[in-house]
Amino acid sequence: MSADLTHDLVEETRQWRLDLHRHPELAYQEHRTSEFVAKKLAEYGYAVTRGLGGTGVVGTLQRGTASHSIALRADMDALPIQEQTGLPHASTVPGVMHACGHDGHTSMLLGAARLAASRKDLNGTLHVIFQPAEEVEGGALRMIEDGLFDRISPDRIFGLHNWPYSAPGTVAAPDGPMMSAFGTFDIKVEGKGAHGAMPHQSADPVLAAGQIVSALQVIAARNISPLDSIVISVTRIQGGDAYNVIPEIVNLGGTTRWFSAEAADLIERRLVEVAQSVAAGFECRAEVKHLRRYPATINDADAAAFVRASASEAGFEVISPQPSMGAEDFAFFLEKKHGSYIWLGSAREGENPVLHSPRFDFNDNVLGDGIRLWNNLISNTLMA
Ligand code: NI
Repeated sequence: MSADLTHDLVEETRQWRLDLHRHPELAYQEHRTSEFVAKKLAEYGYAVTRGLGGTGVVGTLQRGTASHSIALRADMDALPIQEQTGLPHASTVPGVMHACGHDGHTSMLLGAARLAASRKDLNGTLHVIFQPAEEVEGGALRMIEDGLFDRISPDRIFGLHNWPYSAPGTVAAPDGPMMSAFGTFDIKVEGKGAHGAMPHQSADPVLAAGQIVSALQVIAARNISPLDSIVISVTRIQGGDAYNVIPEIVNLGGTTRWFSAEAADLIERRLVEVAQSVAAGFECRAEVKHLRRYPATINDADAAAFVRASASEAGFEVISPQPSMGAEDFAFFLEKKHGSYIWLGSAREGENPVLHSPRFDFNDNVLGDGIRLWNNLISNTLMA
C-alpha cells in the first residue's frame, strides 16, 4: 500500500516541530520557517517555488507519466500570544507563540514530503503548499492572487488541522460545510456630549450603544431560521474618558459568522437596520461597516469521501462532529479547487489546552498520524 513510516522519520519530524515551536513567526513574517521548508524540499528533490503570498513555499514532485495530481497544504504562521507553557521548547520570541499547532502542520507535511520523495512507486504529481498568514490575514488568498493556480493545477487539494477536541486516532472530513465564513464589523454611534450630571442636554451614545449590543442579537434569535447557524458577537466597546462626561462617540466592534451567502446578506442588511433604528430612538446616529473576511470552508462530497475511505484504510476512526463556527482560510482554496479540509484528532489526556490558549502545545503523539494520513492520500491518488 505505501512506503514505511519509520520511527526515525517521526523522530526527525518531532525535532523540526520543537525547533519551529521555539522560533514562531507572525503572519507574512515566516522568513525563517519558509527558508527552512524550502531548503528541505530542495534537498528531497522537489522543484521549489518561493515568494507566493510573500513567504509561501510550493514544492512539486513529479513522478512517471500519469496526469493525476494532488496538492496538500500546511500553514506556517504563529499568533500574537505570550506563551505560558513553561516547556523546554517554549517560544524564544516574546509575545509570539505557536498556539494553533501550525508548527505541527508544517512539520507533518514536510515529513510526508520526505517520505513521498523516498518512494519509487508513485506515478503523477504531488504539490506541497506551505502558506503564510492563515490566522486572520488570509495568506491563502494572497497565494492565489500571486498566481498559485496558474503555476499548479492539482486535481484535488487537501488541508489538515490538528483537532484537540477529538481523540488521537480520529479523522473528520464531513461532506459540505465544515467551518463557517467570518466577517468583522464596526459601528460608530454618534450622539451629543454633555456633562454627566445634566444628561438631558446630551444625546447619549453610551446608552444607545448598550441597547444596540443587546438588540443585535435579534438577528440570530428572530431573523434567521433556527435551523441555520449564524453568530454575531460584539467584542469591543470603546467610548468616553471621564466619570462626568457623556461622550460624543462610542465605537462598537465584533465578529460575524455564517455559512450561506443568503445569511451573509441578511446579516449585513440587519446590522445596519437594527443599529441605525435603535440609535435613532436615542437621538443618535449609527454608521455601520461590515467586511466579509473568509468564506465558509465547504468540502466537496467526493473529496471528503475519498479522505474518509483513505483514513479508514489507514486505521483511523472516522468521526462526524458538527461543523465549527471557527473560520479557516483554506476556504479560499476550496473556492477554486475540488478538495476537503480535515481534522486530525489530537486531544491530550488530562489537561488539554484548547487552540489559541497560551498553554497550548501541539501534541507530538499525533505527528506520525498526520504523516500516515497524508501518505495514504498520496498513495491513493498517485498509485491509481
Ligand atoms: Ni490554526
